[in-house]
Amino acid sequence: MSPPLRIALLASGRGSNLAALLDAHARGELPVEFVLVASDKAEAGALRLAEAAGVPSLALDPRSYPSRRDFDLDLFARLAASGADLLVLAGFMRILDGEALAPWVGRMINIHPSLLPKYRGLHTHRRALEAGDPEHGASVHYVTAELDGGPVIAQARLPIEPGDDEHRLAARLLVLEHRLLPAVVRLIAAQRLALLPPDGVALDGERLPAPLRLDGDRLAP
Ligand code: GAR
Repeated sequence: MSPPLRIALLASGRGSNLAALLDAHARGELPVEFVLVASDKAEAGALRLAEAAGVPSLALDPRSYPSRRDFDLDLFARLAASGADLLVLAGFMRILDGEALAPWVGRMINIHPSLLPKYRGLHTHRRALEAGDPEHGASVHYVTAELDGGPVIAQARLPIEPGDDEHRLAARLLVLEHRLLPAVVRLIAAQRLALLPPDGVALDGERLPAPLRLDGDRLAP
């Protein structure tokens, strides 16, 4: 048996997606090892969750670096030193320097609360509501230098309901995010997924014609 996939996770906030991964691992459904949780915010809930789970944690303050690039280079050096095989961005609310992240392309994924390529950036729930979209969703994609622009691996979709406001829609979507992210990590841990540069994703060696879709707890073509 090959050793478990070593994961480092980056988060700026409460860390509910980290909690979903830790829970899946605790249930024996995720054959991974958490080697580090890093944040740009010392007060991030994700760091407290990591500490409670016995996962090494690290807070780096961007204000103590001369430039964004210096921060990113130090962050990625520390992530490399952790021995991580895969970096998971789960609510890490910073734009990353393209050169600093380059060595990780194909080994770094992000969860984003929209049906990419729709609504890159912020306020995705509000923008879907304002556009009158019939459905909304979340995407997990490989991270490239283009913000929220890397190849999409999988998506979870949900219909927008008449009573939805930004808060309610975000809460309903979060439930799906907590299934989507562990499902993608499980596929990566099984060595079934790969980035096909420049813009494709391969599952079991075959290029995916479209992102996988979350169906219950599983991903389907
Ligand atoms: C999640 O909804 C995630 O999709 C979003 O931040 C939230 C983090 O929640 N990510 C982005 O907006 C990235 N652009 P969490 O801290 O509870 O996991």
